[in-house]
Amino acid sequence: MKGIILAGGSGTRLRPLTGALSKQLLPVYDKPMIYYPLSVLMLAGVREILLISTPTHSEMFRNMLGDGTRVGLRIEYAIQHEPKGIAEALIIGADFIGDDQVALVLGDNIFHGPQFAKILDDSVRELDGCALFGYRVKAPERYAVGELDDAERLLSLEEKPARPRSDLAVTGLYMYDSDVVGIAKNVSPSARGELEITDVNRAYLAQGRARLTELGRGIVWVDMGTHESLLHASQYVQLVEQWQGERIACVEEVALHKGFITAEQCHRLGEEMPGTAYGRYVRETASRHEIVLSA
Ligand code: TTP
Repeated sequence: MKGIILAGGSGTRLRPLTGALSKQLLPVYDKPMIYYPLSVLMLAGVREILLISTPTHSEMFRNMLGDGTRVGLRIEYAIQHEPKGIAEALIIGADFIGDDQVALVLGDNIFHGPQFAKILDDSVRELDGCALFGYRVKAPERYAVGELDDAERLLSLEEKPARPRSDLAVTGLYMYDSDVVGIAKNVSPSARGELEITDVNRAYLAQGRARLTELGRGIVWVDMGTHESLLHASQYVQLVEQWQGERIACVEEVALHKGFITAEQCHRLGEEMPGTAYGRYVRETASRHEIVLSA
């Protein structure tokens, strides 16, 4: 499976923070926002990733993440010239996707929770068509909304409905089989002039090949698009890291855990950040891993 991170957009709701910086490079407590969706793809076992961003910011992402080799990935870069909709990512990424399956994640979404890695594993393994992930929210009319029947079959998908049929918002993580490029190319711009990802998902639904998995209790999902949600995400990460002593979305740790890099490589990455708590955590993670292996 390939992976795409969509990290463009205009970030108007986060102005003036986004005056010069990309939204997805803003700090979320101890790391840049992009680390969170990047670690989601890595947890799903994805190693080939296309990062799509704006003409202004693409180089900054490349400077930060390079070709991904350091954490055992292959990262390529592409540009979305204007924010013409989330589904455009699948057209920009058409050659990159080729005949493979693909997971698309929005660069401003954070997912975290005890069962989340298992949900990702199961979804990749059982993917047939399209896999979506739902989260119960207080204001569903601001999101794409999915409706499930008693057997958890997906009945409908609606983009920002005035009268939502449920409170289950569709989150910014989508998995597709290789038909997705053809489907995305057939989508027409909506009334707001965007290629809507909901139209792609509805095409799968019409074929009876869309599944929506509810992210239940214990899992946290935040779309970090406003000042308040950005602050809440930082506060959440800080609290969890302080209380549990484990870091969220530490890409070096995820790479080690998934076997993308060795403990020795992980240790070296930690040494590149001397004098920081983050670097020490990466080194200690590598050492713990070596102890477990040699036990
Ligand atoms: P949004 O939060 O809907 O848009 P935005 O980031 O431009 O912010 P604002 O509404 O404040 O102007 O986008 C969700 C995510 O998808 C975000 O990470 C940006 C990304 N995105 C693109 O990269 N290209 C697009 O064409 C669209 C619509 C979104």
